[in-house]
Amino acid sequence: MFDRLTRQPEDPLLALIGIFKADPRADKVDLGVGVYRDEAGHSPIFRAVKAAERIIWESQDSKSYVAPEGDQLFLDLLWSLVGGSAPSVHAAGVQTPGGSGALRLAADLIRQAGTGKIWLGLPTWPNHAGIFAAAGLEVETYPYFDVPSQTLQLDRMLEALQRAAPGDAVLIHASCHNPTGAPLSTEDFARITAVMAARGLVPLIDSAYQGFGAGLEGDAAGLRAMVAAVPEALLAVSCSKSFGLYRERTGALYAVASAQAAAETARSNLVSIARTSYSMPPDHGSAIVKTILDTPDLYADWSSELETMRQRLAALRRSFAEALGGRWSNTIAIGVQEGMFSLLPVTPAEVMTLREKHGVYMPTSGRINIAGLKLADVARVAGLFKSL
Ligand code: LMR
Repeated sequence: MFDRLTRQPEDPLLALIGIFKADPRADKVDLGVGVYRDEAGHSPIFRAVKAAERIIWESQDSKSYVAPEGDQLFLDLLWSLVGGSAPSVHAAGVQTPGGSGALRLAADLIRQAGTGKIWLGLPTWPNHAGIFAAAGLEVETYPYFDVPSQTLQLDRMLEALQRAAPGDAVLIHASCHNPTGAPLSTEDFARITAVMAARGLVPLIDSAYQGFGAGLEGDAAGLRAMVAAVPEALLAVSCSKSFGLYRERTGALYAVASAQAAAETARSNLVSIARTSYSMPPDHGSAIVKTILDTPDLYADWSSELETMRQRLAALRRSFAEALGGRWSNTIAIGVQEGMFSLLPVTPAEVMTLREKHGVYMPTSGRINIAGLKLADVARVAGLFKSL
């Protein structure tokens, strides 16, 4: 059997982790994979996560199965954090192995419901297309962002969505767009929502960076308004970044509807799809998130640590944009974009020059993880981009 297989290339973004590690240069800079880093270049464990782990270690008395849908209290608390509390919005969720697990489950549900198509923005997180194609969906694209001018292409996006058929799914980033960092304003969300509602499109909202852009509430405001205004939506939530639980694979997928019965029917399908895939979700990460969200002291500490991270990112952005000066036509936009990423107008050849000559690592798309910069490195790294 195996000799009929061809060797697959490594995922280029994940491969960067190993290539960076192997570089012996002391002044190397990792602007690759999207993990938060502190000024020392370390991806820290939140204090509240450590405290929650201690509580779990002391109190947990069994590792038996929880439930096919995961831990209901985790699902309820996470829904309140992300989805809010509008009484007209009914959500039924399942716990998933990370945000990617939620997206794959959503893709399988979309397929199971007989919808063949999903629309993705250009550009988007590279793995989106792979996940939906693997589930057998046809992937269509809408324009989202123009890299040279660093501007959102909202009118072109809405024009493209006029071509979508009723029932088509449309992927939307809740906040901190990956890879562009280009934020959608409240008005932008309202215009997209109006088109979705008028054309009967089903939003699949990917919320993976809550707290890193406009804060915990601000990053959820657009998605909350959207799910309240359409009859059906799917919401994929990742706890990887907001709780720093990357390797614990913690997330959830919510079917959101204007009637509870419809959401519950969707959930029963999600549970049955998961049963034939990974059976049941892992528990440790969700137990941590549940403990934090359910313990006022831990919640306060977690949210203040997250806010500190958000402010560090914003400060790094400002100084990086300032240090770049007029390097590109709209460099100033990089300073006000949100979250970890910006997509720079550099060529793959320039990316390789930075990597090989200077030890500055980023994917060939030109995406940078702002958190990988240190304040102390900003001037030098900006100087390297200016020298290209
Ligand atoms: C990223 O975009 O860097 C992260 O979401 C990590 C990943 O899985 O690609």
